[in-house]
Amino acid sequence: MKRFLLSLLALAMLSPAAFAVEDWQNPDVNQRNRVPMHTSFATDSPRLSLEGLWKFQWYETPDARALDFYKPGLDDAAWGSMPVPGMWELNGYGDPLYVNIPYAWDGHYQNNPPIVPLEHNYVGQYRRSFDIPADWAGQDIFLAIGSATSNVRVWVNGKEVGYSEDSKLEARFDITKYVKPGQSALIALEIFRWCDGTYLECQDFWRYAGIAREVYLTARPKARIEDLHVSAGMDGSYRFDASLSKSAKGVKFYLSGPGYPEREVPAEGRVEQAKLWSAETPTLYHLRAVCTDRKGATETAELDFGFRTVEIRGRQLLVNGQPVLIKGADRHEMSAKGGYVVTPEEMLEDIRIMKELNINTVRTSHYPNDPRWLDLCDRYGLYVIDEADIESHGMGYGPQTLGNNPIYKQSHLERVQRMAQRDVNHPSVIIWSLGNEAGNGQNFYAAYDWLKAWDSSRPIQYERAGEEYNTDIICYMYMTYADLVKYAENPEITRPIIMCEYAHAMGNSMGGFEDYLDLFRKYPELQGGCIWDFVDQAVRWPSDKSRTGYIYAFGGDFNDYDPSDNSFNCNGIIAADRSLHPHAWEVRHGYRSILTSATPEQALDGRVSVFNENFFIDLSRYMLRWEVIADGRPVLAGQADAPKAAPQQTVAADLGFRAADLKDIPGELYLNVSYVLRCSDGILPAGTEVAHDQILLREAPYRLTAADLGGRHFEAYFDPATGALSSYKVDGKQLLAAPLMPCFGRAVTENDLGAWLQRRMGAWLYPEFKLVEMSVNLDQEIKTVYDVGEGLAKVEMRYTIAEDGSITVTEQMTEVREGAPELFRFGMEFAMPGAFNTLEFYGEGPFENYIDRQGASQTGIWKQAVADQYHFGYVRPQESGTHVGMRWMRLTDASGCGFEIAAPEKFSASALPFGRRDIDLSVTGGSRAKGGDQRHSLELQEDGLTHVNVDLVQMGLGCENAWGALPRPEYRLKAGPRIFTFTLKPLL
Ligand code: GAL
Repeated sequence: MKRFLLSLLALAMLSPAAFAVEDWQNPDVNQRNRVPMHTSFATDSPRLSLEGLWKFQWYETPDARALDFYKPGLDDAAWGSMPVPGMWELNGYGDPLYVNIPYAWDGHYQNNPPIVPLEHNYVGQYRRSFDIPADWAGQDIFLAIGSATSNVRVWVNGKEVGYSEDSKLEARFDITKYVKPGQSALIALEIFRWCDGTYLECQDFWRYAGIAREVYLTARPKARIEDLHVSAGMDGSYRFDASLSKSAKGVKFYLSGPGYPEREVPAEGRVEQAKLWSAETPTLYHLRAVCTDRKGATETAELDFGFRTVEIRGRQLLVNGQPVLIKGADRHEMSAKGGYVVTPEEMLEDIRIMKELNINTVRTSHYPNDPRWLDLCDRYGLYVIDEADIESHGMGYGPQTLGNNPIYKQSHLERVQRMAQRDVNHPSVIIWSLGNEAGNGQNFYAAYDWLKAWDSSRPIQYERAGEEYNTDIICYMYMTYADLVKYAENPEITRPIIMCEYAHAMGNSMGGFEDYLDLFRKYPELQGGCIWDFVDQAVRWPSDKSRTGYIYAFGGDFNDYDPSDNSFNCNGIIAADRSLHPHAWEVRHGYRSILTSATPEQALDGRVSVFNENFFIDLSRYMLRWEVIADGRPVLAGQADAPKAAPQQTVAADLGFRAADLKDIPGELYLNVSYVLRCSDGILPAGTEVAHDQILLREAPYRLTAADLGGRHFEAYFDPATGALSSYKVDGKQLLAAPLMPCFGRAVTENDLGAWLQRRMGAWLYPEFKLVEMSVNLDQEIKTVYDVGEGLAKVEMRYTIAEDGSITVTEQMTEVREGAPELFRFGMEFAMPGAFNTLEFYGEGPFENYIDRQGASQTGIWKQAVADQYHFGYVRPQESGTHVGMRWMRLTDASGCGFEIAAPEKFSASALPFGRRDIDLSVTGGSRAKGGDQRHSLELQEDGLTHVNVDLVQMGLGCENAWGALPRPEYRLKAGPRIFTFTLKPLL
């Protein structure tokens, strides 16, 4: 007996399947009665959408759930309701939970795969009846559920039909025998928040539950196409493989395409001079496969496909033989309103924005997407890295990794197999990805081997494979600039390097983005990467403290119980509401495919070089527009056809003006060149600008003219207690609301917080300025000296007051303490009354820019409202609104009265309706941790002042990562002697 008990125990440890373990705890059972996965194709068979409100009952734990809920007689009148598709947490059941690395139960339950906790493992039960059309008699009826998290069990008319896990791929069930055409059918679904599959779905995103994609019924004839595979290469050869149901007798293929009227074709053949598919030329051909039985045609299956070839040759990834540059972004399927439910309209919007931003690749991080998304990528032209729904990050990569755990082998394989079986026909899918952050080991080797053997037409990547054999691309995430160079210059590397994630776009970020592009453009084996990531995951949530009535909520906003990683899910190029973050422009610019360059001498003579970085198209679809600006004002302009440049070719373009045309025009000269679409192109309308560059022709300092006081008098007051200019009045009108003081700190950005700069450089944030000297000499020069932060540095200020009321300010840092941390900025800050609400400047604009993020901005004269300077799209308050490259800036009220600030050197400045402390997360000990700062930009309250910062320079933003990396050294400010001079001139 003892022996028996022992072996029973041993068995229990070995395999949960050895006992009557329920499916949702059993990794050996990922489905019951699911129809095998087939490729996505449309048919002419009828479809009935099951979307809408269903009856819904929610339980706190599996134990609490009703076991007979699916029975036809059950009275569900008192149940609640749930939209299908719809996530529970966004429809009144449970709170949204966001956590990055660990599982959603972190802090409350010890990982114990495959067993998930009972506590808080909510269960949702759904019921709804549908009329099955009478004319569906004789057909086979299928139920399709696009995406159910984390699993779904199905009953029809009281009978159990099947079960499915793997929440990001369709589950299809044959329900023919459970329904009667012409009668109503009760469909009951049961979904668990967590199941054993959840151990593979530990992605860094909102951990929602519910149904996210289409749910429908189809009625298909007995004789039908079960699966349809297309392979088509760049030589025009193709092969169609259809698997037919038992009753089918045959299939006929009809092919059509551009310049290729529909005709019947053999299953294998070749299209002469086939037009190839690429992200630049998304040419699709159309296949109609008509299934027949003894009596004739029974059903038509249709799909679009493209002729194209993907291969790895040498150290490069080639599409149609060309080493394309991957200008990519990672995208979660995430809507600010719907969570995982992304509507077709929202998908189209994302496609449009990607195309507008010159993004050419999307990694479906971190799971297969809605098939409608892939259709759009095929149609509008985006390369896709199609990723399997496998991430077990919460287990770590060490011995615990599920990538090496035999009980999860089948799940790893099935998730990869079903993705490939569904998506194999999409021309947009150029790379398979085995998953994300799930360690490496036997399960991934097996998945790689299977996939390689099954589809030899595409490379496979897997980041955690590192440089092991089971990745065809070295796709490390967040490689440093230095590492990229090291890899590119290492002759032993045999694979292309395409970062699966890089340029972490969290908050006010993307500084140094262009430096990545420079490397990609320099080294042929560095073929780009995908920016992390496309869109902030924030969820729109009501707030009565907000200026808009809602906030964009992030982790930790909902309760104290759940684990949270705060705002770390907001790393988007664009905001959750799809508005562009300022750094989106930098992406568009960095990713442009027409690059204009010239030396100042060439450009002064109207001659520029134009590089067509496209691999498949020439520039005939674009117009070239140019203008020369003098001190920001247009003086010459023209427009012409874009030069004839073949793909990858550089050509010289003559814009037609000469240096002589400009010689009498005074001031600083810039040439702006841009390229716009002549006609609409895919989703982009005619007139869309796709690229621009600005070239300096001639530099010239700004000459400040004397103020015209017009007989009025001014009064400047320096406070003897602080030494600062604290009042400036013109005819009694006060221009200052807070004194002019040195400033070396900034409201920390997300990247600053990630690198702990609030601590490492915290001494400069709000130091004490102890006045140690103040004197006035006969030349009206006031001198003050501050001891900053108790011996950190000395700052000497000199103010020279001219008769016209202008004050020239010189700020000099001296005696910096050995080992003092770097500065955030070197400049001054002050405030004006809020009536001074307009900002005009000659500098880089129109959107905010920084020393390491000024590729997209252009020097010009920009007039903007102070109220618009802060970018509310940053979910959390932080530094915002800076413009670099300024020669002058004016802050005025409605009457034009105010200050002009000008400096001999270009400077940077901002004017915001908030004080620095009000937007500085470091003031409240801000962090990313649970219990961290839950402040939201939309809840900021203006204080009625205009807060101005004027800097010689502010440190950059960085983007290598948001967890420790600093901006590159050239964009940082070592503490040391510095001097900044500018003039404050009254405007009347
Ligand atoms: C990666 C991960 C992403 C995201 C990113 C940081 O490690 O794959 O899902 O977490 O880092 O934002």
